Amino acid sequence: MNNNTVNKCLSLFEDFLTDKVDNHLKEYFKDELKSLERVKNTAMSISQPKKINIPEIVKEYVSNLDRSIGDSTELNAALLDVVPFLEWYQIFESKEIDPSLSKGLLAGQIVGKRGLIKSDKFYMGLFFLSQEIHYPLHQHNPLEIYYVFSGTLQIQHGRQKLPFIVETGDYSITPCNQVHSLTTKEEPCILCYMWVKGYGKLHGPNWWWKEQKNGTWKRVCWERQPDSYWKITGSEELTDDIIDLSGDS
Ligand SMILES: [Fe+2]
Repeated sequence: MNNNTVNKCLSLFEDFLTDKVDNHLKEYFKDELKSLERVKNTAMSISQPKKINIPEIVKEYVSNLDRSIGDSTELNAALLDVVPFLEWYQIFESKEIDPSLSKGLLAGQIVGKRGLIKSDKFYMGLFFLSQEIHYPLHQHNPLEIYYVFSGTLQIQHGRQKLPFIVETGDYSITPCNQVHSLTTKEEPCILCYMWVKGYGKLHGPNWWWKEQKNGTWKRVCWERQPDSYWKITGSEELTDDIIDLSGDS
């Protein structure tokens, strides 16, 4: 593992944004990568995880992947090269969510508090979703991009809109505060993600929306802990103001 492996991911992802992404919001992601590049050229050091421990489901899935999948073969190969060096972790841990969901959502940060590059300016990494996962409607301040480098992902923005499919090699951008859900079908899916403050904020809760038995909706507050895990810290009713600001139309 050397700086080159990581730098390749960063610069090839920047190229991907430049060449393949036609949404103007891409500039927010590029700006963050560029700001890191300045660090990269001076004193950036890459941390080695103390103990490399790739979860079995990730190991098995990536070992069967063809390195030349999709159009962005160089990028995909670079992302696969970092898989063994990431400190993989289960994002959500709580008795209040189904274990098949919590065990099926795993992340490894390339950039972030747990990343190979330590940063609290933005997050970038790999996100693994098992097959037949439904990550329910949720919203967060950061602006998010998902590049699907293997598998397919179904995304829904808002409660009423039809979901759409993001195929291998394609991407989706979720605006700040937009309520959205993720679903996988019979195959797992692996993504490269970036979370940046964009025109919003980087930090703040991840709110999960939940319909109550009486037909009303609540949102449950998950807050990122200093070690990047998320924990439930409260819940509240959905008000008209909250709904208006969530892209739920
Ligand atoms: Fe999200």
